Amino acid sequence: MAKIQKIKGFVDLFPEEAAKFTFMEKSARETFERYGFGELRTPVLEKTELFQKSIGEDTDVVGKEMFTFPDRKDRSLTMRPEATAGVVRAFIESKTHQPGKISKYFTFGPMFRYERPQKGRQRQFHQINAEIFGAPEAQADAELILMLKTFLNTIGLTKLTIELNSLGCHECRPTYKQALVDYYKSKDKENFCEDCRRRMETNPLRVLDCKVPACKELVVDAPVITDHLCDDCEVHFADVKSILDGAGLGYELNPRLVRGLDYYVRTCFEVASYDIGSQTAVAGGGRYDGLIKNLGGGDCAATGFAIGMERLAMLLDKLEADTPDFYLAVVDGAASNQAMLFAQQLRDKGLKGDVTYGGGSMKSRMRAANKSGAKVCLIMGGDELANQTVTVKDMVGDEEQKTISQADYLAGI
Ligand code: HAM
Repeated sequence: MAKIQKIKGFVDLFPEEAAKFTFMEKSARETFERYGFGELRTPVLEKTELFQKSIGEDTDVVGKEMFTFPDRKDRSLTMRPEATAGVVRAFIESKTHQPGKISKYFTFGPMFRYERPQKGRQRQFHQINAEIFGAPEAQADAELILMLKTFLNTIGLTKLTIELNSLGCHECRPTYKQALVDYYKSKDKENFCEDCRRRMETNPLRVLDCKVPACKELVVDAPVITDHLCDDCEVHFADVKSILDGAGLGYELNPRLVRGLDYYVRTCFEVASYDIGSQTAVAGGGRYDGLIKNLGGGDCAATGFAIGMERLAMLLDKLEADTPDFYLAVVDGAASNQAMLFAQQLRDKGLKGDVTYGGGSMKSRMRAANKSGAKVCLIMGGDELANQTVTVKDMVGDEEQKTISQADYLAGI
């Protein structure tokens, strides 16, 4: 019979790889809690319009990459392609916002984007997210970037650089958009791909983010947003940079960084690694002050980031698992039940280790014990069963072997 295989672009994580994910989540949780963040878990499935209204109809994510399907009552649902929209929806729905109040949330979990799978790009991938609501100030953006850098340092990734830009606001961006449109016209619209010809009318910034080589080349000399910022945006951006400079955090200004989602204003940033193939972005984020209002909430500023866990995992060395305390080898099937009960008593005392099922030859059991890396091998056969003893072989020191009563062994732990 044909084997059932996993869906294209979806991945199974076996213990060695899963350990890296647990490690990242644990480190993120510890770091983020030090900055006053609390965990929020939101559903994987949301109404499609949530993403259409927040990420933007003209983005690749909404236009081409969502896992969208009707439910049994023909309502359009979407597997979340990112966490921010759902976190904002939950925040609005919970009515926790009061003017002047700051809320800080982090969230971990799987996201879904129907992209062409390749190294570092999957259809189900995992993100670590952090969002701050209620703070229009530049200090919140700087705090997020400092927290992101602290987290990366904590997990041993000290060499990653942060690219930084400001995308302006609703005041200054229209002038910039017009400058872009004028530039595109000067390059002859026909030379751009079909999507970009449409984007020029609907969302000129998106053209800067196009992956088609011809379009990429055409925008090389396009005007940059940082030459068009209004005074307030200039001051805001200067504050972010000044805090990061004060903290000695290395960043690169990239006036061409526009991000792939439409909700951003002012500060935006990305962390890139050139050691993991063509998908270089390991994290990205920025400010999205208008989104809460657009989704029916109050006037509440917002800023955040997301880290791609698969891409970070590629940069992490294999994690060494803790050495087991014992390996309980049953060499006579008759002792199996007693061995299982003894192993349970060892585990109840907090020890970590494995017990074999059924009987087996001493030779194969000792080979497996060695392979397990356990500190001691405990042997149980017919004699040990009859005498309520266990034979203890030291696996790290002198490899001495002695037989003692099970009760004495347990009492000595
Ligand atoms: P994003 O840049 O779309 O931002 O995604 C964040 C990170 O998720 C990327 O830098 C990348 O590491 C990872 N990622 C994205 N797509 C894939 C994929 N197909 N396979 C593997 N990894 C992927 C957001 O999602 C925003 N919600 C971030 C944010 C939070 N902005 C404000 N708050």
